[in-house]
Amino acid sequence: MTDPFYQEIRWLELKLKILDTPAYSSFIHSILAEKRHFSHILECGTGAGDFVTILEKLVTFDSLTGIDRDARLIGRARERFTHNPRIHFKISDLEDMKKLEVPQEFDLVTGHALLEHTCMADIIPVLKNCCKVGGFLYFPHNYMSPTIFEPVFDPVIDRQIIRNFDAFSIENQPNKEKLVGNSRCGANIYTSLVESGLEVIHYQCTDWLLYPKNGGYTEEESEILRMLVNFFYNANKNPQIPSSDRISDKILNEWHWTRLSQVEENKLVYLCPQTSILVRRPG
Ligand SMILES: C[S@@+](CC[C@H](N)C(=O)[O-])C[C@H]1O[C@@H](n2cnc3c(N)ncnc32)[C@H](O)[C@@H]1O
Repeated sequence: MTDPFYQEIRWLELKLKILDTPAYSSFIHSILAEKRHFSHILECGTGAGDFVTILEKLVTFDSLTGIDRDARLIGRARERFTHNPRIHFKISDLEDMKKLEVPQEFDLVTGHALLEHTCMADIIPVLKNCCKVGGFLYFPHNYMSPTIFEPVFDPVIDRQIIRNFDAFSIENQPNKEKLVGNSRCGANIYTSLVESGLEVIHYQCTDWLLYPKNGGYTEEESEILRMLVNFFYNANKNPQIPSSDRISDKILNEWHWTRLSQVEENKLVYLCPQTSILVRRPG
């Protein structure tokens, strides 16, 4: 099986640089920066450690442990952070931590663009358990479909292409003998966290938006837009899509070609709704 698109290293690099800019979450970041020092931070679903670069600038800590289920990404993260002996990385799946006695030693638990790739009902209690009473949990950038591409290609086709992407690239992802993922994660997260007994400190929209500013894109913006168009195109070629939801090859190829041309012609707008939330374990 090929790796999911969201584990591609170049995508993660460009995502952090262009889409996940800290300015989106500046208010939450100012709350964390005010606290300044944390004893032990657990960074979950850290990938290649991109969010660690932000945490390093934002706060100080005695130790930061980054975990991810993907060994290749953890290898890349380890190579990047040899300069800081306080930072460690572990290959670990949050699903396995359900069965473990996890020490509640972390005063900050983070998961950046993580929860939409999990079964939230199972994983939120695990994350809560890792957090000390009185500690904080921060989940930046939770995906909340429907994604929007402008100009409209065809309202019905656009909608179906996005639904198929959600159903076969975000949802229904195999992990530990079950299918996980939630394309409405960002719209469900507030209630899920409150119902888990967590206290909301700040909740906000942190949508991704790319449009041709000053008439065009930078080279990297064009690259990430082409990547995104390809992610949606490839998801729609998945043979598991039921025939009732399948877009014909002819129309799908036309959609793909039109969207790539719109990138070259500086006409494509990409809007991906997301939320970010900071909560506290009360007590
Ligand atoms: C969209 S990527 C985000 C990576 C990184 N946080 C960032 O924003 O650059 C989601 C990451 O979560 C990891 N992940 C998903 N489910 C996981 C689980 N159950 N346990 C550990 N890691 C998980 C994936 O391997 C992937 O690296």
